[in-house]
Amino acid sequence: MRSTSAGQTIAAIAEQTQASALLRLVITGSVDDGKSTLIGRLLYDSKQILTDQLEALKAASERRNGMHALDLSLLTDGLRAEREQGITIDVAYRYFQTAHRKFIIADTPGHERYTRNMVTGASTADLAVILIDARQGVVEQTRRHAFIASLLGIRHLVVCVNKMDLVDYAQGAFDRVEQDFREFCARLETTDVTFVPISAMHGENVVERSERMDWYQGPALLYHLEHVHIASDRNLIDCRLPVQWVIRPGSGSGRAAGPAVWPGAGLGARSKQPDDDHDYRAYAGQIAAGVFRAGDRVLVLPSGEETRVASVDSFDGPLTEACAPMSIALRLEDDLDISRGDMICRPHNRPTVDRHIEATVCWMADAPVVAGAVYALKHTTRSARAVVEDIRYRIDVNSLHRDENARQLGLNDIGRIRLRTTVPLIFDEYRRNRTTGSFILIDETTSGTVGAGMIIEAHIERPEGPQASEVTWDRGGMARVARWALLGQRGATLWLTGLPAAGKSTIAAALEERLARDGYRAYRLDGDNVRHGLNSDLGFDPGDRAENIRRVAHVASLFADSGTVAIVSTISPYAVDRALARSVHERSELEFLEVFVDTPLKECERRDPKGMYARARAGKIHGFTGVDAPYEAPREPDLALRPLQQKLDELVEVLVVELRARGILGAPR
Ligand code: ADX
Repeated sequence: MRSTSAGQTIAAIAEQTQASALLRLVITGSVDDGKSTLIGRLLYDSKQILTDQLEALKAASERRNGMHALDLSLLTDGLRAEREQGITIDVAYRYFQTAHRKFIIADTPGHERYTRNMVTGASTADLAVILIDARQGVVEQTRRHAFIASLLGIRHLVVCVNKMDLVDYAQGAFDRVEQDFREFCARLETTDVTFVPISAMHGENVVERSERMDWYQGPALLYHLEHVHIASDRNLIDCRLPVQWVIRPGSGSGRAAGPAVWPGAGLGARSKQPDDDHDYRAYAGQIAAGVFRAGDRVLVLPSGEETRVASVDSFDGPLTEACAPMSIALRLEDDLDISRGDMICRPHNRPTVDRHIEATVCWMADAPVVAGAVYALKHTTRSARAVVEDIRYRIDVNSLHRDENARQLGLNDIGRIRLRTTVPLIFDEYRRNRTTGSFILIDETTSGTVGAGMIIEAHIERPEGPQASEVTWDRGGMARVARWALLGQRGATLWLTGLPAAGKSTIAAALEERLARDGYRAYRLDGDNVRHGLNSDLGFDPGDRAENIRRVAHVASLFADSGTVAIVSTISPYAVDRALARSVHERSELEFLEVFVDTPLKECERRDPKGMYARARAGKIHGFTGVDAPYEAPREPDLALRPLQQKLDELVEVLVVELRARGILGAPR
């Protein structure tokens, strides 16, 4: 069978080229556990050091320690800050090679403050080496690092019990560490754990087997690293190509052929597509999982359209097939509308497409994450904004206990959160795919990465379409235009958003009255009022506010469809929710005007007609907008009203003029 043999070919290629020939490892440990010395020892004993480096190293060792013995830690302690402070502060990658394998080592700092670097360094690793000082045994950092390694889906752990020379190479010390560590890691998902007693300083069991620890029967560390089986770790089943780049005809420098800047092939690299191919159009990216072949039936998400692969092209020309993590471009048989951030997969093996996500996050910023916070989110080649709906729990890395009362996650905390994104993400569970299952959160003001997330699952999506496909829309006998023509006006929604006590309800009521007096149909949907009936089941956490807005948006759109001017006044503090309200209208081709009632917080608080601000400040109400819950002012409202600067009837006039200008109100009656 052709497909079977092709599958074998690709497995064989993966085996030879990437999967087994290259091992990515991360080395972690606490500050003084001897990481730098271990890395130096691996390089030195496996003869990776050039003569001139050796001379420089001898000189540096003498300068630093005044001794003639080599200080191998100086080989890798290249960072100035580290030399000054005695701690490693960034992820450094080291490359070395033996007859069996190539290695990329992520050397990550042990200091607790820098857990983020461990996460960065470990996110692509096949294996983690966890260093433990034989005298100290398993400490909190050990557990933290093992837990993060397991969370990040690293399948192989090697626990190096270092400084065995300082405990007289005694088996008892080693056995104690092994027992403690096994106890802890029984609760983790990593199953392949190997223990090696070493002395990095003296080179025992690092590259050569030690003669001082004859009680240890296993191999030296390097032997294990050379032979650990990782080829079967990769996912060849789910086909996923996140589109990073659309190569279009004519988008080159005056030539018709595509510019073909290949992801991963270096900027400015050009493909070997024929220059005279005016129709060349392809979708480039790095394969996240699986195998793509010419002729394969593929499905594009989120559109859901299907077609076939016309060819799989690489930087060096067409291929019969390609697998993760190769960078390729797919030409498709049909001309579909595909853009960056879309995902190409197979029709019967789809990722999830959802805006509601539960994930484990490692928090990396000083400022904690709380419910209601909004971040930029990057996932594969997609960007979105995400609101944190809920902090589900925080995990104590020592006991692995879940604290379900936690209201926030601080620096280095790990926990489970619920997110809602502005656009759907196209993802797999992290356990299944480390690429399509992970994302980062970015602080929009500083552009700094504040969290690393691993998707657990989509959480219950509130339906935006009918639950049952048998439900259709009943159009009735009279078309909307006919209905509106009889009324002499068009329906529309005016959406007033602003802080509590900004003046939304007052303006809404005055406008409703004015329109009614002028002979138009208008009806107010007030946040407080709607919460008495339709939305009486909802509170004020971000999830409930979203549902509140969703329902109000749908009710408003029905009023608008009827030919009424629906005047909504709700705080609607989240831009994501207001965007949804707009899209509910746009889907039904109804006009939607976002009106920002722009009263400064200070003034709202001074007015405080219901005494809510005062109660919130006194700690009697929690999550009150403007006090301890955010208000995201519209960036581009259709209209902004400033009650501080204009009188009520003037504000109403502004709205009436706008409604007339848009043709919503016919001639006055
Ligand atoms: S929204 O955020 O979901 O849009 P909405 O406009 O419906 O809010 O309701 C706001 C009204 O609820 C306010 O007028 C206020 O009196 C009341 N309220 C009670 N608790 C809160 C709270 N935590 N935050 C904001 N408003 C609150």
